[in-house]
This record gives sequence, structure tokens and C-alpha cells, in this order.
Amino acid sequence: MPIRYCVRFLIAAIALAVLPRACIAAPHTTIRPGAVWLDKQGHGIEAHGGGILYHDHTWYWFGTDRNPQLDAAKRYVRCYSSHDLIHWKNRGHALTLADPEHLGPRWVLERPKAYYSPLTHQFVMYMHLDDAHYKYAHVGVAESNKITGPYHFVASFRPLGLESRDIGQFVDDDGQAYLVFESRPSGGFYVARLSPDRLSVRTPAVAFFHIPLEGGALVHYDGMYYVMGSHLTGWRANPNVYAAAPTLSGPWTEFREVAPGSPNTYGGQSTFLLKVAGTKTSTVIFMGDIWKPRALWDSRYLWMPLEIKDGRMLLPEPEPWTINTKTGITTIYPKQPRPMQ
Ligand code: DGJ
Repeated sequence: MPIRYCVRFLIAAIALAVLPRACIAAPHTTIRPGAVWLDKQGHGIEAHGGGILYHDHTWYWFGTDRNPQLDAAKRYVRCYSSHDLIHWKNRGHALTLADPEHLGPRWVLERPKAYYSPLTHQFVMYMHLDDAHYKYAHVGVAESNKITGPYHFVASFRPLGLESRDIGQFVDDDGQAYLVFESRPSGGFYVARLSPDRLSVRTPAVAFFHIPLEGGALVHYDGMYYVMGSHLTGWRANPNVYAAAPTLSGPWTEFREVAPGSPNTYGGQSTFLLKVAGTKTSTVIFMGDIWKPRALWDSRYLWMPLEIKDGRMLLPEPEPWTINTKTGITTIYPKQPRPMQ
């Protein structure tokens, strides 16, 4: 190697060793909470209130597409796929739905979540269906033989006969699938098992919590279950809380704030807890929405790895970060210092 390259290499190595971490630029393979997140084609990702389904070594992200240029009479769920959780390929609209239950103008489709049924080999999508006043309070169910859709509307119902608004999805390590749903008349929220074909909700509920929580999510990590949600403050962020238990039927700890360092969970609302089981470690990612109620399409995503130990969970201050999905190891890049004045 010519001497000038050796010298340059040496200078670069010394600089990297002596520079404080904060001065090292985060590479482009980072997730930047709160920033515009572009898909592989360079368009902003439209997958709000979303969830993830891991299938055939690929992650599929489903969420509502709020693009105001779409047909205002219809609702859309978009799907993206990824092999590294950082770069996402737009797979188009998994579901395009015209008001399926005569819910009227400004009808609501929120928080789509997809499951796979090993029994029927079909993919089943749950969603919150409502009228403009949030009085219908049903889940909608759609089905497809392809993970990316198109999904066809099957039915809407009230799980366990109860009002259901925000929903969350959970598939345990043993393959059992669950629906999390908020039901405010009972002053709480439920976790209920789905049937093997994923088309119906089994009674009785496996867990009920005496606290109405939206944005419900659940994860099984290191021998403990962690359930999470936000309080009911519309689109405004609030302190999201979690509880832990060794089994789904409890005993559950009290609810604690997941981000005690922030009055409103850094502006985010939980939508999903994604476990990435790598060869070296397992990481649980907090997936949240930073809503912009006046421009929902421009709402942002707050994804951060959680710190979890012995029944305690902590959402650290959002920073750019990356994950190696093979090993499960994450690296956080502290924010860049302000430029010198
Ligand atoms: C909070 C819920 O989490 C959202 O999905 C949405 O329904 C808003 N409320 C509507 O105000």
C-alpha cells in the first residue's frame, strides 16, 4: 500500500479513537425517531398505528395510509417489507376498503394488524372500524392468501360482545395469537386468544386490566410478559405505561411509566412491541406514532430499543440507532452536537 494511504488510514483510525462518540456521524443505516422515514423508493412511509408480521425471514409492516390525495370515501392499509428493519420496500395497498358497514362520512379504519394462520395458510387482518363519533366500536376482519394482499373484507364484530376501539396484535413464541383491545365501558382493556383460523376471538379473555389503555401492545421477553398502552387523550401523547407478569393470567405488577424521563413518552404513542431474536441477544423495539392530528399523513414514527430487566422496562431518550437483525445487537448514536457558533 502506498505510504500516503497508510498515513491517511492511520489519521482516520486515531481520529475515530479519540473523538467523543457524539462526534461520530450516524451512518445512513440508522433509524431516526421522529424524522421523515423514506421507503426504498424515496417516499415517506405511510403505515400509521401499525404493526409487524414476521414471515419467511421477512418483516412486513402494515399501517394506515393517510395520504390526503387518496379517495376520501375509502380507507387504505399500506404494507412494506424489509430484511433489516431499516430499509423498507413499499408493497402497495394491502387493503383498500369502501365503507363496509354504512358507517357514514368520516368513517374510521385504524390500527390494522395482520396474522398468519398455520391452519388455513391464510393471512388475516384485524382493524378498528368505527363511525365518525367512535360509537360503532367494532373490529373489522379481512383475509388474503398473500401476505401483502389484497385483503378482502370478511366481517365486523365486537370481540367477546364488547365495545372495542384501539387494538393491538400479539403472537406468542408458541404460535398462539392474541388480540389486545380497549373497551372503555368496562373501564379497561383485554387480551383475548384468537381461533386457529384467526377469524374469531375466543372467550373468555386471558387477561383483563382495570385501566382503559389505547395503543395496546404486548411482548414476551426473557420469561416475562409485558403489556403496554397509553391513556385516553385523543391524538395528544401522554405517559405510556406498562405492567409485567410471568404468565398472561398474572400476577401482573402495577402499571408504571415506560419513559419516566418524559411527560408524554417523547411525544409518541405505543402501537406495537417488536421482539427481534438474534444469535447474540433479543431486542424489543418500542414502535410508536408521533401523531400530527391536523396532518395525520405526516405523523412520524418513534422506534427505539427498550431497556428491559427483571420486570422493568425503560424507553430511553430517542436517538438515532441501528440494529443488526442477525445478532439482535443495537447501537445508539448520540445526537450530533450543535455546530460551533
Ligand atoms: C387515540 C387512539 O389511540 C387513536 O388510534 C385514535 O383513535 C385517536 N385516539 C382519535 O382521537
